[in-house]
Amino acid sequence: AVQEACEPSNYRTMDDEHGAGAIDWDKLGFGMMQTDCMYMMKCGKDEQFKAGKLSRYGNIELSPSAGVLNYGQGLFEGTKAYRREDGGVYLFRPQENAIRMQTGAHRMCMPSPSLPQFLDALKQTALANTRWIPPPGKGSLYIRPLLIGSGPVLGLAPASEYTFLVYASPVGNYFKEGTAPLNLYVEDEFHRTTRGGAGGVKSITNYAPVLKAMSRARDRGFSDVLYLDSVNKRNIEEVSSCNIFILKGNVLSTPAPNGTILEGVTRKSIIDIARHLGYQVEERCIPIEELSDADEVFCTGTAVGVVPVGSVTYKGNRIEYEMSSELVSHKLYSELLEIQRGTKEDNWGWVV
Ligand code: COI
Repeated sequence: AVQEACEPSNYRTMDDEHGAGAIDWDKLGFGMMQTDCMYMMKCGKDEQFKAGKLSRYGNIELSPSAGVLNYGQGLFEGTKAYRREDGGVYLFRPQENAIRMQTGAHRMCMPSPSLPQFLDALKQTALANTRWIPPPGKGSLYIRPLLIGSGPVLGLAPASEYTFLVYASPVGNYFKEGTAPLNLYVEDEFHRTTRGGAGGVKSITNYAPVLKAMSRARDRGFSDVLYLDSVNKRNIEEVSSCNIFILKGNVLSTPAPNGTILEGVTRKSIIDIARHLGYQVEERCIPIEELSDADEVFCTGTAVGVVPVGSVTYKGNRIEYEMSSELVSHKLYSELLEIQRGTKEDNWGWVV
């Protein structure tokens, strides 16, 4: 399809009832709100992505036999752009997303954009949609890069053409609870992934299979699901859309990446910040029983941020965690947010 150019004359106007000017930034949740522009770049049999371009956000044309539609050959990423008091726009560690997409592409038999191509696409998308970036402190522009097998296939095989797309949406809190503590349900029937599977990369195929467990848990009044490893059904892995940490004394633990854990950029950043603040951080197997003894449990993710867990329910037993304004998870998150929002010096070189 010929995509409409992403020219300001094609933008929805500020006073358009659906335009950026009409948004109540205080009421932002995590829902898709379409913005002006998206970025698209394609790659054929030579496995080299050609110069991409911005176009107006809209539907794309795909063959019914596209690899992604038939066999789930696709990856996605998530990162955020923040607006600062001085009007500047910054991305947080987008190189990490670029590298993770390359690792995932390797696992899923797909070519991937080079690091400069990935970063350029993200920057162009953020800048073209600047007016959709919430004011400082009110949220962020969530940027969603996608890599999909767009070429036709019938027999099971890698697609012959790939499309890299980047779109964006302004977002606030991920959970409907806002930043209130989550009540997690430990799932022992369904698993998120298994050893040798694709749980360690951001394959689109990791996400639909958790919807059943999630909706079952939500129907029972829980916020989300904590999954166990599929081999021993004993060690905690992650929550549907985020990683998990437990704190006991000065020791912060999170499941070790062993092919079933998605190595979140927020997870990685929280590990660095916690070590810097003097916590001992361990990446290891965490048996479910340890949750009974934890001082704090919290979740991390790009979409989610850092959210405390108020309770975990496993086999009918509910473990509750004490909440206070002194939570370590709050301290770690404020350090991270201040770096992301530019109110604290970025000594790590994370912000670009
Ligand atoms: C993210 O945190 O960016 C994710 O990709 C999780 C997604 C399920 C919203």
